[in-house]
Amino acid sequence: MAHEPRIIAFLCSWCAYSAADRAGQARLEYPQSLLTVRVMCSGRVEPAFVLQAFREGADGVLVAGCHPGDCHYVDGNLRAAARHAVLVRALEQAGIEPERFRLAWASAAEGERFAATVREMTEALRALGPLAYPARAALDAGLSPAPEGVEDGRSPAPARGGPPVPAGPLPPRAPGKPRVAFYWNASCGGCEEAVMDLGEGLASLLERVEVVLWPVALDHKRADVEALPDGGIDVAFVNGAVRLSEQDEWSRLLRRKARVLVSFGACAHMGGVVGLGNLSSAAELLDAAYSRPASVSNPEAPLPGGPVAGGGGLSLPVLLSRALPLAEVVPVDYTVPGCPPSPAIVAAALDALLGDALPLPGAVLAPNVALCDGCPRKGSRPERLSVASLRRIATTALDPERCFLAQGLVCLGPGTRAGCQPGCIEAGMPCRGCFGPLDGVRDPGAAMLSAFASLFAGGEAEVVALADALPDPAGTFWRYSYAAGLVPARVRPASEGGEG
Ligand code: FES
Repeated sequence: MAHEPRIIAFLCSWCAYSAADRAGQARLEYPQSLLTVRVMCSGRVEPAFVLQAFREGADGVLVAGCHPGDCHYVDGNLRAAARHAVLVRALEQAGIEPERFRLAWASAAEGERFAATVREMTEALRALGPLAYPARAALDAGLSPAPEGVEDGRSPAPARGGPPVPAGPLPPRAPGKPRVAFYWNASCGGCEEAVMDLGEGLASLLERVEVVLWPVALDHKRADVEALPDGGIDVAFVNGAVRLSEQDEWSRLLRRKARVLVSFGACAHMGGVVGLGNLSSAAELLDAAYSRPASVSNPEAPLPGGPVAGGGGLSLPVLLSRALPLAEVVPVDYTVPGCPPSPAIVAAALDALLGDALPLPGAVLAPNVALCDGCPRKGSRPERLSVASLRRIATTALDPERCFLAQGLVCLGPGTRAGCQPGCIEAGMPCRGCFGPLDGVRDPGAAMLSAFASLFAGGEAEVVALADALPDPAGTFWRYSYAAGLVPARVRPASEGGEG
């Protein structure tokens, strides 16, 4: 039987919902596979709603509202238009065809127009086929199971991208100096530098603790860690996303050995820049890294997962199907955010975690306030922000004291947690979001896309033009959080035959 597409339609109560009602009363035909969600205004539809609908199995999402100029909340539909124009491009970067996310206008009297929109969209989706949005199980393919008989931790793994699950009661601490481990997964090494940047604080730290693992500085082996009793490490700081099978194994080992496991830095917290690799499939990444570059000589073509020539049976770690935040592999107890975490945040975290009274389980160890609150440019932010033209830092002479948003630059400060001191702002760079969201935000990239696009000034044509001029929406709004967001990995378009 032919696939009948499932469409989730968010309809504004005043116009589009009434139009759908009118179509029904007039017995106009349109496909029954439409599930409607009534909202007060199309401007109420957050990008996260759209992404969640796709995650829940929609083949297409329709947002419909009043015609421009008729919105009962003045400009809610223009905000919807701006968000749609940006999000549809971000979805396209993830392999989701633009036809799957549609925006439409219909007045309460336009039942036929509404019915025609649904018929057209359904036809387009039938032609595309079902959306191969990767199922959770498929995304996790390639992850190694926990070693037999070993619990991964004291509490179940949290939902994707959610806050760390509070851990259960901690085992008692062994007498003597606290044992500390530092480990890195897929990262640039900047988080290791953040520990070095403690300066004199590092010397006093090394007097207070016994370091049992620190590959960047000391020569411990895996066997040394395996020989420790379970719970024998007081605090393990793990940075980097989990991208290789070896990193998956190390993360599980450290979870087992550590009383307290800390997700350290943006890549462990949200996938970081490593997570943008999820815009490509693992096969595409391997091809780009090992096959195509003229600078790489790889005549025997050993690839991750394959045997090492002359390696006596050794093989290289497997590249997982996608990069994962640490909390998706094992339960984490605390998070220290940032790319890298600032020295003040690192010092405060060490004091908190090595002291007698631990912070609340699951806490992100940085202030739960937006970066904007303490921004040195805060005073220049206008009461009512709007963006009439976009500017780019590399091509524009900027006012060194004025709010970046007021100058037409993307700055993620309104939705990003404070705690960076704020280094980038003081150096003249807008916030890129490395400290992650405040508590309770499910998808920081979607939230910032929504907030920024909502500032666009002008009518429908102007806001869409601004959206179209915004380069690389996925890399802009999800720069550090793509792996933890609601679009989890590259979706192979149906036209390419496929599954995610
Ligand atoms: Fe209908 Fe705003 S009230 S789109």
